[in-house]
Amino acid sequence: KLTPVILCGGSGTRLWPLSREHYPKQFLSLQDDGQSMLQNTAVRLHGVHPSIAQTSPVLVCNADHRFLAAQQLQEQGIADAKLVLEPTGRNTAPALTLAALAAEADAVLLAMPADHVMTRPEQLHRAVEAAWPLASEGAMVTFGIVADRPETGYGYIQKGAADSHGAFAIESFAEKPSLEVAEQYLRSGQYLWNSGLFMVRADQWLKAMAALQPAMLQACEQAMAQSSRDMDFIRPHGELFGACPADSIDYAVMEKLPVRPELGVPARVVPLDAGWSDLGAWDALWDVLPRDGQGNAGTGETLAIDTRNSLLFSESRLIAAVGLDNVVVVETADAVLVADKSRTQDVKKVVAQLKAQN
Ligand code: GDD
Ligand code: MG
Repeated sequence: KLTPVILCGGSGTRLWPLSREHYPKQFLSLQDDGQSMLQNTAVRLHGVHPSIAQTSPVLVCNADHRFLAAQQLQEQGIADAKLVLEPTGRNTAPALTLAALAAEADAVLLAMPADHVMTRPEQLHRAVEAAWPLASEGAMVTFGIVADRPETGYGYIQKGAADSHGAFAIESFAEKPSLEVAEQYLRSGQYLWNSGLFMVRADQWLKAMAALQPAMLQACEQAMAQSSRDMDFIRPHGELFGACPADSIDYAVMEKLPVRPELGVPARVVPLDAGWSDLGAWDALWDVLPRDGQGNAGTGETLAIDTRNSLLFSESRLIAAVGLDNVVVVETADAVLVADKSRTQDVKKVVAQLKAQN
């Protein structure tokens, strides 16, 4: 059976001041559709062909967000999810390992970040159907996006030989390359972006972890063996999980699998053309929101005069903009962000500085 695994532990600092420590971005509705990014993720697999049976999801998040996560799932009619609560985040490789240990051993896991947008979910359904036989047979399947700029925040997947399912072998995987290298990859035409979704049988993931990250696997196994349960919450042992090394799926496993064929977990990539976007920073939100003739996007009460290509995001008060170009303004009750749209990656520096002052 297919078990959706929702990775929901990120902090989303680049979307400050909307995204806050106690209410990070995946729990927010940024697209004006009344649904949070988590809620959109939780129903995204509705429409996968019914021959692929699905279990209720496993959600992995920070313990502080348990009620938020449970309530948002319930609002979507999902009452039987397993919620695995991390006392502190150890990045995505341990998070997926906890999920694999909480799921059935032969479940095919589909790890999904909770903070992505897909405007054409039916394309995801086709990709999942193409990946299903591969993952069922033991492969680690990634989903690749056609790259259109030398983005340095993503993983790059080098395509190898095509197979009959429309998938490709993975020649190599490079997480977050330098700009120079990313430009080279883009020019070569051989690379896809890693979408951050992964499909792998639980036992195969644990096998890969045993070979590549034995300390991480051991910490997760011990933490789960000593876990406690209340309601739908599964709490891995705090100290034992705290001792787990932190690393992402991409660095800890994906970069290594293509060069370790003897492990018996072949790496594959299925192309994905689903209007995918990682809503990492404000410029990405501007990208996916509807825009007026001047290229302005926004929500709430706004007034724009001679203003172009800007994002005006108002929560409680009117934003009036005059003569702006390529600017982001985000208004909340207690903080206002004004930033050049090309610099929105650096909003995390604001958060870091505020933290240092407190
Ligand atoms: N439960 C849990 N615990 N979830 C986590 C943790 C953690 O410690 N850390 C991150 N996550 C969640 C985030 O909320 C997000 O939904 C997802 O895992 C991915 O983490 P990011 O931190 O956003 O990763 P990234 O964007 O830098 O890189 C990944 O995604 C890119 C595409 O968006 C990589 O997989 C890249 O290769 C990929 O291109
Ligand atoms: Mg991300």
